[in-house]
Amino acid sequence: MNSPLRAVPSNPFVEELLSRMTLAEKAGQMSQHAYGIGELDEVHQRVREGRIGSFLNASPLGVRNELQKMAVTETRLGIPLIFGRDVIHGYRTIFPIPLGLGATFDPELVERVCEAAAAEAAEDGTDWTFAPMIDVTRDPRWGRIAESPSEDPYLMAQMGRAMVRGFQGDDPSRPGRVAACAKHFAGYGATESGKDYNSTWIPEGQLRELHLAAFRACVEAGVLTIMSGFNDLNGIPVTANELLLRRILKEEWGFSGMVVSDWASSSELIVHGLCHDEREVARVTLTAGLDLEMATRNYADNLESLVEEDDSLLGLIDEAVRRILGIKHRLGLFDEPYVAETTTSVALCGAHLALARKAVHESVVLLKNAGGLLPLGGDEKKVALIGPLSDDRENQLGCWSFDGTVECTVTLRAALEARLGEGRVVYAPGVVDCRSHDTSGFDAAAEAANSADVAVVVLGEDAAISGESKCRAFLDLPGSQVALLERLAKTGTPIVLVVMAGRPLAIGSACELTQAVLYAWHPGTQAGPGLADLLLGDAAPSGRLPTTLPRTVGQIPIYYATKNTGRPAPTEFQGIPEGTPLDPVGFASSYLDVEVSPLFPFGFGLSYTSFGYDDLRVSPERAAVGTPIEVSVRVTNTGQRPAEEVVQLYARDLVASVTRPVRELKGISRVHLAPGESREVRFTLTERELEFVGRDMKYVAEPGKFQVFVGGSSTASLSSEFELS
Ligand code: GLC
Repeated sequence: MNSPLRAVPSNPFVEELLSRMTLAEKAGQMSQHAYGIGELDEVHQRVREGRIGSFLNASPLGVRNELQKMAVTETRLGIPLIFGRDVIHGYRTIFPIPLGLGATFDPELVERVCEAAAAEAAEDGTDWTFAPMIDVTRDPRWGRIAESPSEDPYLMAQMGRAMVRGFQGDDPSRPGRVAACAKHFAGYGATESGKDYNSTWIPEGQLRELHLAAFRACVEAGVLTIMSGFNDLNGIPVTANELLLRRILKEEWGFSGMVVSDWASSSELIVHGLCHDEREVARVTLTAGLDLEMATRNYADNLESLVEEDDSLLGLIDEAVRRILGIKHRLGLFDEPYVAETTTSVALCGAHLALARKAVHESVVLLKNAGGLLPLGGDEKKVALIGPLSDDRENQLGCWSFDGTVECTVTLRAALEARLGEGRVVYAPGVVDCRSHDTSGFDAAAEAANSADVAVVVLGEDAAISGESKCRAFLDLPGSQVALLERLAKTGTPIVLVVMAGRPLAIGSACELTQAVLYAWHPGTQAGPGLADLLLGDAAPSGRLPTTLPRTVGQIPIYYATKNTGRPAPTEFQGIPEGTPLDPVGFASSYLDVEVSPLFPFGFGLSYTSFGYDDLRVSPERAAVGTPIEVSVRVTNTGQRPAEEVVQLYARDLVASVTRPVRELKGISRVHLAPGESREVRFTLTERELEFVGRDMKYVAEPGKFQVFVGGSSTASLSSEFELS
């Protein structure tokens, strides 16, 4: 096991600089200041004294270059600052929220999205984005599910790798690239009872298999930084958790970048009850492996006195500063500390807007399409456009969109009126906003529906109840939106429901009231044109659910990769019929009052065509552990319209030394097929795909029988078997 001191490749430039630094200057490099907090003169003075090494939120560009000039020309060693910012799903051009990007099942597209976001942010002075967020969660009560691309570790790893590649490129010092930051390390998505910042209790096996898989993939993909989270993990908050930050991340995985704390999460160790005071915080986090402290000054104010008391800490301080200087050097900040003001800009350029529109096409999930109501076709129909999110430029951007250019955001109302002409779109919000209980707009909405051939109703959550700290104990459509839908259903006009939300919602009753349902997440700047393309048939929806849609909040946590248990629920829901005598019912892992199945399963999504699967082949059918297993299947577009299918491969390890899930995603492939066209799709299952965390916490692939399932969702039925000896 290599020591963290050796994990960092030696860099002569860094070593030489480090040798000239005072302890105060080293402590300064380990401190990131949140711009806008505190007295500006004092902040400038601290920069000049070399007591701040990094800023977050120091925008716009002028501010950044001014601070940089102080650091480079007025400090003793001229070490440049590094500037961080939350560029989560776009900068000026806002793309679908990360949960929506996960729904694309398209890593190549997501890489291009992050490349575009990096280009827009880098030209405006950002060196480093605090993304990707890759916290796996199975709890839609948690507001941050909006930022998390998937419930599934395989898809999360695919998305995390793609985002790191998109942000950093092959050389992060190139113009238009930024350092990425995989966060929040780790286990944050298991926050108890869906409340943010809550305790997490995760057995190490599940921690490694479910919560660390994507982080391991991002480290392998070369992510330059990692952010520790707020959560208390098994009694040791992750920002002070040596098992995570030092033993697993730096020693076992050999991570050579830097670890930054989340906002004030180091000082919160006192609130957690882990540390008595800031001095102890500094010692505990330094020992645990935290390199850079965000928005607090425990390192800046205490490291010198701690070293006076115990000079063995100096080695750990040098390791942290080595990592920080290494990142600044990798980003080229010593050569190019400033970002030139540009006359031309890539922000909101045609290519980025087109990409944002395509991301809408690929992220929106068609859940229902009774009678082929969709697509509406472009000419004859009169459309009633109803709902609080059908014309709301701000809320369609979703959480973490503060750099978005709202005035360039196109709503569905604007897009449809542009496409159909105002005479053929009759608009009525129905309710003033998503959470309003005022029903005074219902009559006008019903009148609009009565006057039209079809009603497109856009409901869901506003951005204000999505994202960090925005947790809900219920998953219903907020406010009086269901009542509005019930009123509209009475008109008899067919309804297309479009849901914009930052989480899975329990939309069972809404689905029953409508003929077609599109789940659009928060689709971003190009929500209007993208959705209009889908509604009118200029594009076919090809999103697939990256997270399970529950029937009710009582089913949480609900996810597809469950263990079989010793008493799996029967396939048919038995319930407890009225008058049931005291005789035993159930005795299986099920509920008396609701099916155990979700409303819609992971990986599910309809299309404007249909797809057939056959000719599934597995080769070899028997092989030694470690032999690659080739899986192939033929997919056919059996409908009348061209469309994209997301072919999904799942595997099940039937018997193992640790019980395994009934199926796990092991491959995805997006294919475009013309009507009648067939394509053979191939997957390779290597030992890496078949390994799991064994009883000794080591990754292992064991001999035995495996099943594979291939199809268009996690309920795929086409299956075959192979055996490893
Ligand atoms: C926030 C978030 C984190 C973000 C950081 C900086 O509290 O938890 O994801 O990157 O602070 O804004």
